[in-house]
Amino acid sequence: GSAAAAAAPAKPKEAGPSPDMKPVMVLYGTEFGFSKEIAEKLCGQLKAAGCGLWPQLENMADHAEGYDFSKAQVAVLACSTQGDGVPPTEAREFCEWLFAGKSGSLAHLQYAVCALGDKSYTHFCRCGKQLDSALEAAGAKRLAERVDVNKEDWPVVDAWLDGVVAAVRGMALKSFAELGQAVGDSSAAKAAAPKKWGKSRPYFATVMALEGLCTLSGPDDKNTVRMELDLGDSGISYLPGDALGLYPTNQPKAVEELLQIMGASASEPVAVPSWHYEEEGAAQGGSMPLAQALTNCYDIRSPKPELLKLLVAALNASANGHAANGHANGHANGHANGDAATVSPQQWLREALKDQAAIEAYLEPRHVVDVLADAGPAKLTVSQVLSCLRQLQPRLYSISSSPLEASARVQVTVAEVKYLSLGKARIGVCSTMLSERLKVGARVPVYVHKNPDFRLPADAATPIIMVGPGTGLAPFRSFILERLLEAQAGADKKAPGEMVLYFGCRRSDQDYLYGGVLEGWAAEGKITLFTAFSRQQAQKVYVQNRLTESADLVWGLLEKGAHFYVCGDASSMAGSVEKALLQLIGERLEAGPAGAEAYLQKLSDTGRYQRDVWY
Ligand code: 2AM
Repeated sequence: GSAAAAAAPAKPKEAGPSPDMKPVMVLYGTEFGFSKEIAEKLCGQLKAAGCGLWPQLENMADHAEGYDFSKAQVAVLACSTQGDGVPPTEAREFCEWLFAGKSGSLAHLQYAVCALGDKSYTHFCRCGKQLDSALEAAGAKRLAERVDVNKEDWPVVDAWLDGVVAAVRGMALKSFAELGQAVGDSSAAKAAAPKKWGKSRPYFATVMALEGLCTLSGPDDKNTVRMELDLGDSGISYLPGDALGLYPTNQPKAVEELLQIMGASASEPVAVPSWHYEEEGAAQGGSMPLAQALTNCYDIRSPKPELLKLLVAALNASANGHAANGHANGHANGHANGDAATVSPQQWLREALKDQAAIEAYLEPRHVVDVLADAGPAKLTVSQVLSCLRQLQPRLYSISSSPLEASARVQVTVAEVKYLSLGKARIGVCSTMLSERLKVGARVPVYVHKNPDFRLPADAATPIIMVGPGTGLAPFRSFILERLLEAQAGADKKAPGEMVLYFGCRRSDQDYLYGGVLEGWAAEGKITLFTAFSRQQAQKVYVQNRLTESADLVWGLLEKGAHFYVCGDASSMAGSVEKALLQLIGERLEAGPAGAEAYLQKLSDTGRYQRDVWY
């Protein structure tokens, strides 16, 4: 509506707490924002509980040096678990501080933990479980049983929140005054501290170079680009092994399609979502035009399942008086029971909603615009649709430069993502932004994502073995450069330890990333290079085959203390490489294959087998 477009309602400034209010700590540790959503919901419910409760929302990321629990009698923690059972990147230091028992006695504290995770990983909810036991070990008392949540299971979370709110309400809590706390304007106190660049406050780096690294010939070929950014005087530093976080924007065409199907105006002002990163000059809690929000803030591909619920409700409402119009299209995919071609969208959606697995299977290949198209006559308001959209996540790319080349410059090597789904050509949001839309001179919001589990050995003389096909090469280019530059700069010009690289790609004349540089290093004896060009001969050849062929070399280096690194595709390459590695170890150990697992485990435990792999 144009009347609404005139002025966006400014958020009223929240009054600070009064001394008779009762503080409740709500801490979250998050990678993708779900824990934060839960923590925010809890804060809202505690405020609404009407007992003078004053929830204090805290991000574990802001408490890397620990947290002062003496300021409250109640602490509620929501924290997810990542990959191999580790805390979210930015919550890692806080968690390790608590796990290590550094909080001292917490006998005065009552607490509750919401553990988030994904059952398809080995260490389900491990971080939340560790927080729970660390708090218990420090003498704190459980206010409510911990809940372990699989993915975004809101019903489970909501039931737990109800229990926590009821338990907090039932407690005789002391007020700020009784606890002897100063209750000033905490936001002013926070603003005074110098702000660091990071995930929630990215630096707008300038694109200095952007170039394709591949020679494309067939329709099936994908490009890989090298992007170089200038970090200016940000003071941002990184180490080889770190990744660069980059906030993408959605493709203008995709935003237009969505606006059109929503029947919404591009300029309609909408609230800036709370998760959106801080931006110089942009008002927090303000508004922005809908098109900009859809471009910069929202994931317009994978909607939340609630979108289906709202659509069913809207269909039910519009069905009153209208006959089903036979709009069922696109549902004939076998997920619905019965003959999908003959059911109305209403019937289909109602059927689908009965079964969580069917909802997921339906949503999986569909973007928001596809779901809205399927639902045909159902019309939702802009705010209804936005409430079903997730945060547009930053993408992480292994850094492929060394800070020793130029400390204020950073480079990444990014492969284009293009695939077919439901017969439509789909593209990766961030990778195609780099390969198709971004221009030299543009500024992009970035931050450094520390990767402490993927590091060069402390001793530059230690041999390293690196397996990195495709863009898995990126961190190894950084490793090699770092070692070569370090050796050059050293007074004694001592040569670094042996470096062996396994690289694989389709063809030497197509996607041999940095091929000239790698061959040059090999020719000068700086690295030992093994290449596997998978599509250059009748039989596929992969890096793991080269590893097996050079097993004696690998074994010799491992016995000399080498570190072994793998980077790249997790779904199949990393597993095949591990198999080849176990095999060659088993063949050379007296204990045979049985001893190989233990040998590799020991390497892993001592930081000598490190992987940076992705799906
Ligand atoms: P392919 O696409 O010809 O099968 C970089 O993507 C290289 O990794 C390509 O040469 C690709 O080969 C190869 N690759 C694909 N699957 C692999 C696997 N399971 N193990 C090792 N390399 C693989």
